[in-house]
Amino acid sequence: MLNWDDPIAAATNKQPAVRPGMGLQENDALMQTAGAAPSVNPDPAAFHATEAPATADDQAPAGNIGLEDPEMGAERIRVDDKKIINCRADLNQLVPFKYKWAWQKYLDGCANHWMPQEINMNADIALWKDPNGLTEDERIIVKRNLGFFSTADSLVANNLVLAVYRHITNPECRQYLLRQAFEEALHTHAYQYCVESLGLDEGEIFNMYREVPSVARKAEWALPFTRHLADPHFHTGTPEDDQKLLRELIAFYVIFEGIFFYVGFVQILSMGRRNKMTGVAEQFQYILRDESMHMNFGIDVINQIKIENPQLWTPEFKQEMADMIREAVELEAQYARDTMPRGVLGMNAGMFEEYLHFIANRRCAQIGLPELYPGADNPFPWMSEVLDLKKEKNFFETRVTEYQTGGALSWD
Ligand SMILES: [Fe+2]
Ligand SMILES: [Fe+2]
Repeated sequence: MLNWDDPIAAATNKQPAVRPGMGLQENDALMQTAGAAPSVNPDPAAFHATEAPATADDQAPAGNIGLEDPEMGAERIRVDDKKIINCRADLNQLVPFKYKWAWQKYLDGCANHWMPQEINMNADIALWKDPNGLTEDERIIVKRNLGFFSTADSLVANNLVLAVYRHITNPECRQYLLRQAFEEALHTHAYQYCVESLGLDEGEIFNMYREVPSVARKAEWALPFTRHLADPHFHTGTPEDDQKLLRELIAFYVIFEGIFFYVGFVQILSMGRRNKMTGVAEQFQYILRDESMHMNFGIDVINQIKIENPQLWTPEFKQEMADMIREAVELEAQYARDTMPRGVLGMNAGMFEEYLHFIANRRCAQIGLPELYPGADNPFPWMSEVLDLKKEKNFFETRVTEYQTGGALSWD
C-alpha cells in the first residue's frame, strides 16, 4: 500500500527491494536503488593533467572508432593510454578499466532491469474507460506526455547510436552507452504498452511531435545538435570540433533528458500520488529512475572531457551553455503551460516554472556553471531531493535477480 507521507525504511537501515509490478513506490525508496550520481569533479582546475593538454595549434587526428585492424605484436593497453575522446588505443578491449564510474553505472543499470509488461495496467484501463474517471484536463496530461515521450526516447536512442557512440573513444563508457540504448528501447516500449493498454489512437499519440507545437518545439530544438555529430564527415580532434561534441552532450544529457523530461515526470507521478493512472505512473517511475542514471552518466562524461581537455571550457563557451540552458527552461515552461492551461492536481504552470529554475540550478552546478536562478525553490519536494544526490549503496544486497524469461534453452 502506497504511503507518500511515511519515508520508507526510515526506521531501519535495510532498504526494501524495489521491483516492477509492486505498484507505486515511495519515490525515495525507488530512487535509492538508482544511485550512480555524478562522480567526476566538474572543476577542470582540480585535475592535474599528467600530459600537456592539446592546444588550438595541435592537428591531432581523430581517435579510433573500434573497427581498425588489430596491430599484431603492439604493446598491451595500459590505463594511461585510454582517453575519453580522441583516443588512439584499441577500443575493443574493455579492461584495464580507467573510468570506474562508467563501469559502475553499467552494473547499476543492469541491476535495475525491468520490463513494461511486469506492471499491472488493469486499474488504468478501467479508469480511462469510465466517462467520469478523469477530468478532461487530466486526460490531456496523460495523452500529451505519452505523445512527447513516445518519440522523444526514440530520438535519444538514435542520437546515442548514430551520433554520440562513435565519438566516445572509451570501451567502458561505450558499455554503458549500449546499456542506455537498450533502456531507451524499453522506454519507447513502455509508452507503446501504455497506448495499447488504454486503447488510445496510436496515430494521434505518435504524431504529436509533428502536430502539437509545444511537443514539436522540444524535438526541433534538439535535432540540430545530433545532426552535426551524425554527419559521417564530422570527427573530433580540433578544439572547435571537440566543443561541438561537448555542446551536443550538454544539449542531450543535461537539457533534453535532464530538463525536458521533468514537467512530464512530475505531472504523471502526481496523478499516481492521487491514485489515478497508477500503472502509467509506475511505468514512469521506473523510467525516471533510468533517466536519472542516464543524466548522471552524461554529466560524468562531460566533466571527464573537460578534465582531459580544459582548453575547451572557455568563458565564452560557458556563457553559451548557460544561455542554452536558459532558453531550454523557457521552452519547457511553455510545455507546462500548454499541457495544463488551468490548474490541475493541485499544481499550476507557475509552480512548474519555479521547479524548472530549481532543477536548472542543479544541472548548472553539476557541470560547473554558476546558478542561473539564485534562490529558486522546489515546489515539489516529494519529487526530487533524492534524484541528484550522491548515494552510497550496495545494489546487490537489495536486488532480487530473477530475470529468467522465455522458455528453457534447448540444444536440439
Ligand atoms: Fe528514456
Ligand atoms: Fe534516457
